[in-house]
Amino acid sequence: MKIMEIEGNRELSGTIRISGAKNATVALIPAAILTDEEVTICNIPEITDTDALCAILNELKVDVKRASESIVINPKNMKNIEIAEPFSKKLRASYYFMGALLGKYKKAVMYFPGGCSIGARPIDLHLKGFEALGATVKNEKNKYIVEAEELHGANIYLDIASVGATINIMLAAVKAKGTTVIDNAAKEPEIVNVATFLNNMGARISGAGTSTIKIEGVETLHKCFHEVIPDRIEAGTYVIIGALCGKNLKIDNIIPEHIDSLLSKLEEIGTQIQVGADYILISKAEHYKSTNIKTLVYPGFPTDLQQPFTVLLTQCDGKSKVTETIWENRFMHVPYLKDLGADISVKNQTATIIGPTPLTGTSVVATDLRAGAAMVTAGLLAKGKTTITNVEHILRGYEQIVEKLTSVGAKINIKEI
Ligand code: UD1
Repeated sequence: MKIMEIEGNRELSGTIRISGAKNATVALIPAAILTDEEVTICNIPEITDTDALCAILNELKVDVKRASESIVINPKNMKNIEIAEPFSKKLRASYYFMGALLGKYKKAVMYFPGGCSIGARPIDLHLKGFEALGATVKNEKNKYIVEAEELHGANIYLDIASVGATINIMLAAVKAKGTTVIDNAAKEPEIVNVATFLNNMGARISGAGTSTIKIEGVETLHKCFHEVIPDRIEAGTYVIIGALCGKNLKIDNIIPEHIDSLLSKLEEIGTQIQVGADYILISKAEHYKSTNIKTLVYPGFPTDLQQPFTVLLTQCDGKSKVTETIWENRFMHVPYLKDLGADISVKNQTATIIGPTPLTGTSVVATDLRAGAAMVTAGLLAKGKTTITNVEHILRGYEQIVEKLTSVGAKINIKEI
């Protein structure tokens, strides 16, 4: 088991370079199998979710070469075999193999995906989308068999603008006969990145980034070169850390407009922030005003930044509220923030935070990936030593977090116990 130790309350200055987006990468890697030719993707983050997807590619006999920040995927000799439960359980995004295998072979057999326990996380919209394209779905316990004689275009309305369902349906529809239209599609930048990748491979997708996506089926896809967009959630996490501990902390290699909702909240509470073309410079201010946030689909305030942002709210004057509308179980960080000294109460889907309260280091748990990011944020701010267990969750999504924070002056390490 790995634990992380942080000696907090230190000023952080220097530059943190943001890695490629986890939530784009985890869809791009499965999407790459839709061709029989070699695909190169660069700016791939070195995170354990990437490793888990490469392990699935290996199982499927796909040739994978990894170099620093890039991956070359050649599916020429791949076999469409069942993806066993230990592989699918490692991460949520294993479900993108369902859409990709269905799109390529018209058959996918795999188990229910894993990932953070932040809610029930059903995949009914993915499956309904596959059915609309002509597939049948059999579910035996945890195992899903999705197959079709032929995939054909369809008009699909998503009851919820789901990121996963939007991408999975795109993957399944890209080689279907005819035109597919996804209405109430999710608009996250990662979806645009995946659609661009597929179009680079010869797909005909338009409207990605809006709520209506049109996919005209093509027969074959070909080799291409593609770059992963910067990770807006990693960027946002470090910007929040900068608001708490920064002295001219530069968060570099980002697309600032992808975190507009966070930036406007930071401005509202009184953060000193300089926004450049591809960077943000941020310093801690003496006082912050309280505010309320409500998590929403993009371009609203991202649920994945709600937990780290809550740490910042503990340092704001007065009462702030966080309302979570996407996931039903995303306040697991709250008891640990209280152990560190925060004044927070949760009722239904709203947390009320009274600040400012000093935080003091203690032992806490990373209950999921972004709760883990909140623990790191709190640990960097708190006086004394914070010890975080279940660090594996954090390593699923934050590349070289110890190295990046150490390089700007943090005292942080991970050790095996
Ligand atoms: C993705 C992100 C995750 C982020 C979330 C919301 C990845 C790998 N993960 O997760 O970090 O928190 O978007 O921005 O990209 N839903 C259903 N049925 C479905 C699918 C979803 O009811 O078939 C519900 C979910 O329970 C949830 C909501 O829709 O309440 C949004 O989920 P979705 O956008 O699908 O999230 P993920 O793609 O799993």
